[in-house]
Amino acid sequence: MGKTTIQDVSKHLGEEVTIGAWIHNKRSSGKIAFLQLRDGTGFIQGVISKNDIGEEKFDQAKGLTQETSLFVTGTIVEDTRSPLGFEMQISDFTIIHEAEDYPITPKEHGTEFLMDHRHLWLRSKKQHAIMKVRNEIIRATYEFFNEQGYVKIDPPILTGSSAEGTTELFHTKYFDEDAYLSQSGQLYMEAAAMAFNKVFSFGPTFRAEKSKTRRHLIEFWMIEPEMAFMDHDDSLEVQEQYVSHIAKSVLQNCKVELEALDRDLTSLQKIEAPFPRITYDDAVKLLHEKGFEDIEWGEDFGAPHETAIAESFDKPVFITHYPLDIKAFYMKPDPERPDVALCADLIAPEGYGEIIGGSQRIDDLELMEQRYKEHDLTGDAYQWYLQLRQYGSVPHSGFGLGLERTVAWIAGVEHVRETIPFPRLLNRLYP
Ligand code: 4AD
Ligand code: MG
Repeated sequence: MGKTTIQDVSKHLGEEVTIGAWIHNKRSSGKIAFLQLRDGTGFIQGVISKNDIGEEKFDQAKGLTQETSLFVTGTIVEDTRSPLGFEMQISDFTIIHEAEDYPITPKEHGTEFLMDHRHLWLRSKKQHAIMKVRNEIIRATYEFFNEQGYVKIDPPILTGSSAEGTTELFHTKYFDEDAYLSQSGQLYMEAAAMAFNKVFSFGPTFRAEKSKTRRHLIEFWMIEPEMAFMDHDDSLEVQEQYVSHIAKSVLQNCKVELEALDRDLTSLQKIEAPFPRITYDDAVKLLHEKGFEDIEWGEDFGAPHETAIAESFDKPVFITHYPLDIKAFYMKPDPERPDVALCADLIAPEGYGEIIGGSQRIDDLELMEQRYKEHDLTGDAYQWYLQLRQYGSVPHSGFGLGLERTVAWIAGVEHVRETIPFPRLLNRLYP
């Protein structure tokens, strides 16, 4: 009688197996009890009949409490009604540990209560499905970039400088020096691209943003590819291919999870490269037509603007060529129109907002020095970055995809707080 896991039961059809599991839920009627079991790899229904198992064991089964852990033995049979396609006819079970008064019951709980119990909430069906989608997006990310010949490079987390603006930095001491938690590995990835051509990173980033919205985390994970010899248009092609690959992989490998999340699949099926592109200029015009009279050229878009623009397309849309003044110091001005940058944000459909920010980088030393001055960037912290423009500078581009916003969109989850195992929010550092 072999030990297996729920995700592998299809390999044991008709066999008797043992699974280590927890009681997720249960109900009984007359001589039959139904145990909803979870083992971390999935959920399965176990059926116990009094006639098969005997009265004493049957009464014990009826008394099993939520989250009690046990070894369950039984035969795997087909069950076309369940999302998994299988159930277990239980022949025996042994309790490992009895759980008393598990705080998260099948009834509704408030968000704050659930967030306070995040360490337990992760066991629930919806949270489990979201984390599995997250895991699949990470897996598909490595697959995509490895297949395309990218080298994974890990930029530092403790840094001496800011990449995306000094107001959102987490400050700490590095012995006698000042240090900051990384907001983006980009500047280091540019150095890496000059050494390895095509590179990508995947790591945590920190933004001390006082934003309390459904799209903002204080600590979030970013995937940052950087490509030597690629211009702005080349980079957009990589982005749309990458995002299409993510959507396709999740559709293929997370069927049970997408069903548990009640995700509308038709909108996911539409995510296929190429994606539409609209310039910032045209986006402003579009917003005026849609009744956003207040927005003026030169202003950044807020969440309602992004949502309104995205509504005009049924795929993710690139907004390109933003005014240089509202973007980061490293972005290359468009040679044909130096007041706009060779950059794009990728806006997800269905109101999920910006999931990617990217650009072609300035490769000219003098221009970069001039941008330093304009942005008051002084000190040794940035000297190494200038040297990248001094020794064989080449056109290069890159982008950053926010993992949690992408998970929220693909999984169809309203708030990014449910897309990371232990969210760090403006008012939350627990658990
Ligand atoms: O647009 P951002 O700030 O771009 C950069 O950091 C560039 N250095 C990336 C690069 O070119 N290598 O951030 C990139 C993405 C955003 O599009 C968004 O998806 C996500 O990171 N993001 C956040 N996600 C959750 N919470 C926050 N506070 C976020 N800030 C940005
Ligand atoms: Mg951005």
